[in-house]
Amino acid sequence: MKVVLKTGDCSSLRLKTLVLFTTTLDPKKKVSILGCDERSLKLIGQALNEKAFSGKAKETIFFRSAETMGADHLLVVGLGDSKSLNHEGTRVAAATALNTLRSSKVVSAGLNLDSLIKGRKDASDLLRGLVEGLCLANYEFEEHKFASKDADKMDQKIQDLVLFSSSALTKSLKEVFEQAQILADFTNFSRWLGDHSGNTMTPTMLANQVIEKAKGTGLKVTVWDKKRIEKERFGGLMTVSRGSAEEPRFIVMEFMNAGKTKKPVCLVGKGLTFDSGGISIKPSAGMDEMKYDMCGGASVISAMLALARSKAKVNVIGLVPATENMPGAAAVKPGDIMTARNGKTVEVLNTDAEGRLILSDALVYASEKKPQAVFSVATLTGAIVVALGNSYTGVFTRDSKTMSRIQNAADHAGEWVWPMPLSDHHVNDIKGYHADLANISSFKGGGSSTAAAFLEQFVEGGLPYAHFDIAGTAWNVSNRLPYAPKKGASGVLVRTLVELTKKYFTTAGR
Ligand code: BES
Ligand code: ZN
Ligand code: ZN
Repeated sequence: MKVVLKTGDCSSLRLKTLVLFTTTLDPKKKVSILGCDERSLKLIGQALNEKAFSGKAKETIFFRSAETMGADHLLVVGLGDSKSLNHEGTRVAAATALNTLRSSKVVSAGLNLDSLIKGRKDASDLLRGLVEGLCLANYEFEEHKFASKDADKMDQKIQDLVLFSSSALTKSLKEVFEQAQILADFTNFSRWLGDHSGNTMTPTMLANQVIEKAKGTGLKVTVWDKKRIEKERFGGLMTVSRGSAEEPRFIVMEFMNAGKTKKPVCLVGKGLTFDSGGISIKPSAGMDEMKYDMCGGASVISAMLALARSKAKVNVIGLVPATENMPGAAAVKPGDIMTARNGKTVEVLNTDAEGRLILSDALVYASEKKPQAVFSVATLTGAIVVALGNSYTGVFTRDSKTMSRIQNAADHAGEWVWPMPLSDHHVNDIKGYHADLANISSFKGGGSSTAAAFLEQFVEGGLPYAHFDIAGTAWNVSNRLPYAPKKGASGVLVRTLVELTKKYFTTAGR
């Protein structure tokens, strides 16, 4: 799908389909929508009288063969109440428009932006949401379906969208347009990595995808193989990978665009390409979903690529330990003891609590980079799904400044986060009996907090550190968001990580 931004009026653009956005209409007043001619106002007015359309959020009305303002068809999309309209409102409205165009078999359209940007102080926020909503809603994962190669089906995909306004578009709006596309494209890339099955996205394939995608972006990628991982004393990653026929990989991404003296930010993501549970094997129902266990890694990879593509003035290092967790003959057994890169020993009491083991070495390595801050992202615990469900990502940090930065970044990005407890009580619960640490708590409950406390043992003391548990948010459950697939990887946190890094860790800051 090609999306362009233009200054112009509708009739000169000769559109097949025109899309108009309107806030809620008052049935007692004459309809007025920026960019409408008399004919379209009459059509919409009639629909309003007949209670078929009133401009509420997610409402649409499609007039086929409306023959108005030089376009054949007219689609009108509701934005809801004008005062409460924000970037999430336009994200939802844009996705609603795209989904309606698709189901109406329309392959090209022009979207009139006047009602969103003319005279509105929040124009750039509304445009950002709109562009993201369009590009995110266009994502489909169909490459393994034979029918998707059908020529007719290809013809029905949306090809071209023209976003236009009758007033001149400022440089900053044009930049917002570019940046929103980059963010949505890399969120879609994260979804694409997550939607792949275990056999089509092994650790080696994941690393190769990163190398391929980074070409020409300025992102430096180094991939460690099994030999190097062992040599670097990554005991956690080695331990988890032992039960699998697939070799592990450690993916290192560096984007140093803020000068040599600026300390980097480290983003660490869990790249578990398939989690069977190992010897502590998972039940078979729903085990297929564990192909998503690399979504933390996918979001770190995609955020790194988005930062590089947008030439952000940041120094940032992305680290993704990648492996399968399988119960092969050489697999780690409950009770086995391993040693992480920093020398701490761990009793592996449950081989299904493997995410924390592979992240341990990566967090030690991150700390060695003397960073400004460390963030980890992982589908770490089933317990976070119980606690927060599928909309809110759990955030664990002891640093209130870091928490408020994360909250601001997520609000801006249009994602949902919630602060979770992390304290010495939780550290106490993961003390080992025959080793320094145990990889599961000795007590029932609080499983997400004890997991976060385990990770914290590998981050150098004093460094600002936050951990995101995305087990509940990394894939979509049902159709809550019109810009996300009903089922499949969500690409969660790509937008928040980019905003967090850019807003708080650039050379100039903001
Ligand atoms: N990958 C899972 C966590 C998970 C669960 C992700 C549900 C997505 C949805 C993780 O490796 C795991 O299995 N964690 C265990 C930890 C337990 C053994 C302490 C869990 O949450 O059950
Ligand atoms: Zn597991
Ligand atoms: Zn896992």
